[in-house]
Amino acid sequence: YRRLRVALLGAGAVGSQVAALLLRHADELADRAGATLELVGIAVRDLDATRDVELPRELLTTDPEPLLVGSDIVIELMGGIEPARTNLLQAINAGADVVTANKALLATHGPEIFDAADQVGAQVYYEAAAAGAIPIIRPLRDSLAGDRVQRIMGIVNGTTNYILDRMDAEGAEFADVLAQAQALGFAEADPTADVEGYDAAQKAAILASLAFHTTVPLDKVHREGITAIDKDMIDAARHAGYVIKLLAVCERLPGDDDTGESISVRVYPALVDRAHPLASVHGANNAVFVQAEAAGDLMFYGAGAGGVQTASAVLGDVVSAARRHIAGGKGVGESTRANLAVAPIGRV
Ligand code: NDP
Ligand code: HSE
Repeated sequence: YRRLRVALLGAGAVGSQVAALLLRHADELADRAGATLELVGIAVRDLDATRDVELPRELLTTDPEPLLVGSDIVIELMGGIEPARTNLLQAINAGADVVTANKALLATHGPEIFDAADQVGAQVYYEAAAAGAIPIIRPLRDSLAGDRVQRIMGIVNGTTNYILDRMDAEGAEFADVLAQAQALGFAEADPTADVEGYDAAQKAAILASLAFHTTVPLDKVHREGITAIDKDMIDAARHAGYVIKLLAVCERLPGDDDTGESISVRVYPALVDRAHPLASVHGANNAVFVQAEAAGDLMFYGAGAGGVQTASAVLGDVVSAARRHIAGGKGVGESTRANLAVAPIGRV
């Protein structure tokens, strides 16, 4: 097989699992990708940090710069805006295709990154940026490209679902379950992003942009988190036959002749009837319902957070990127960007 150089930025909850799977399943992945995926280096902050899985010490470096030049595929799993943004742009401009799970970055700097990739014929893969292991980016971008999505509704943050679920099932304390979610690798580096709904809002912006073929800016997403939810509210909801879930809802709203159609994207804790399928989404799982004009109702369910689970989505992107390289290299294949057109946004 032809050899492709793969660089990894970040070896935390997700990155360490991606590295381990790349090394452990090297032969199988080579067969599937049609190329040997050679992990050439892993950028981290602290060479001596304790990791979920043991990684070859010689692959670790605190200097990402050399990895950004000469790599065929760069996987960004550091999180945050900087240096992730600068490193991804460097990698793209140096000729790499990039894979990222960084919804915070894509929801705020997506157009800049996609434009940079378009200019050099590179690709940006981001299946893990929404709903962890659940395939939802490709279905919205590719499988439903011929349909008209009307509405997306679901649970897209694993940490908050884990917290609300444990508070409901066991009467657990918010702070205790948040600490467990952090220990299990579900939460963001700053868990405010989870509990205040920022992470869900970023994912909703990405999903809505794909579904409605437009760019939904983050500041147009209505956002409420779960920090105001206490045990009394959860108990009251239970006695009334409901469960509280943090929902993301993205929908087209009909307009009149003057205003035209608009899009509403919102994240908020909601009362969900216990008979509704979303009430049965437990732990850090996510579920996304998509209503499309022709396809009707579709449901996507699975692990919404977790290192090894998310690594599955990341590695799927890596194999896709490798296949494209083998098929002809840069500039070949469909753009992974949504087919963007300008549409009115608002009315949250
Ligand atoms: P972690 O915080 O666990 O890991 C971050 C990694 O990046 C660490 O290895 C850290 O190094 C490294 N890093 C951070 N900053 C730098 C820097 N400036 N230079 C070099 N290395 C750096 O994050 P996760 O693995 O949880 O998440 C990674 C990305 O995946 C995020 O964008 C997140 O939103 C996304 N994601 C996470 C999911 C999850 O379940 N955890 C699910 C889906 C997406 P060191 O180890 O030395 O500190
Ligand atoms: N912190 C995120 C969550 C990780 O809990 O859903 C997955 O994107």
